[in-house]
Amino acid sequence: MDNRKIVCYIAASLDGYIATEDDSLDWLFKVEGEGDAGYAEFMETIDTVVMGRRTYDWVMEMEKDEYPYTGLKSYIFSRSVPASVSGDIEFTNTEVPIFAEILKNQPGKDIWVIGGSELLADFVEAGLIDEFIISIAPVIIGKGIPLFRKSDLMTEFKLKEVKRYGEFAQLHYVMK
Ligand SMILES: NC(=O)c1ccc[n+]([C@@H]2O[C@H](COP(=O)([O-])OP(=O)(O)OC[C@H]3O[C@@H](n4cnc5c(N)ncnc54)[C@H](OP(=O)(O)O)[C@@H]3O)[C@@H](O)[C@H]2O)c1
Repeated sequence: MDNRKIVCYIAASLDGYIATEDDSLDWLFKVEGEGDAGYAEFMETIDTVVMGRRTYDWVMEMEKDEYPYTGLKSYIFSRSVPASVSGDIEFTNTEVPIFAEILKNQPGKDIWVIGGSELLADFVEAGLIDEFIISIAPVIIGKGIPLFRKSDLMTEFKLKEVKRYGEFAQLHYVMK
């Protein structure tokens, strides 16, 4: 049986940021896409989402407290919110490598690491992202929250696919 994969599906600026310093994604939402940019197809492949507490707060603010990932198992990483479970939403502080091993050994579909930068860095540093699907917006925002943080680890990927959705280039990489 193939282990379920950990996939980061994310959008970034041309200069590699996922949000401005003040958490704005206005620059991203302004870009003309095409259809749903493969979102529905991607969602068919996952049953679990993982995000940092700041991304969770951002999502809840954007969606006016209507959590958009109901029906999927959700893990929110936080050191400040105590570990707890409410329905399908679980706050956790488990070490990322241990968390990943537990999940990968459970049956299920793939696991989506939504972000943000801080949580993703822990997965990248541990070599735990099996695939990246990165939608590049044709805008240089100059500064902001980086997609990738500095790391001591080099990880090589293979380019699986390149798709165009309007003004977005979507790059799909799998770990070598
Ligand atoms: N462009 C995109 O597609 C995209 C996707 C996702 C997010 N974003 C943006 O990214 C920004 C948020 O990114 P961010 O890097 O600032 O924050 P983040 O990674 O979403 O959240 C950081 C928080 O997560 C918790 N955390 C992170 N690593 C942890 C670990 N190993 N163990 C336990 N808790 C951990 C901590 O929460 P506590 O402080 O509670 O301890 C930390 O303060 C937002 O602006 C969001 O909109 C953009």
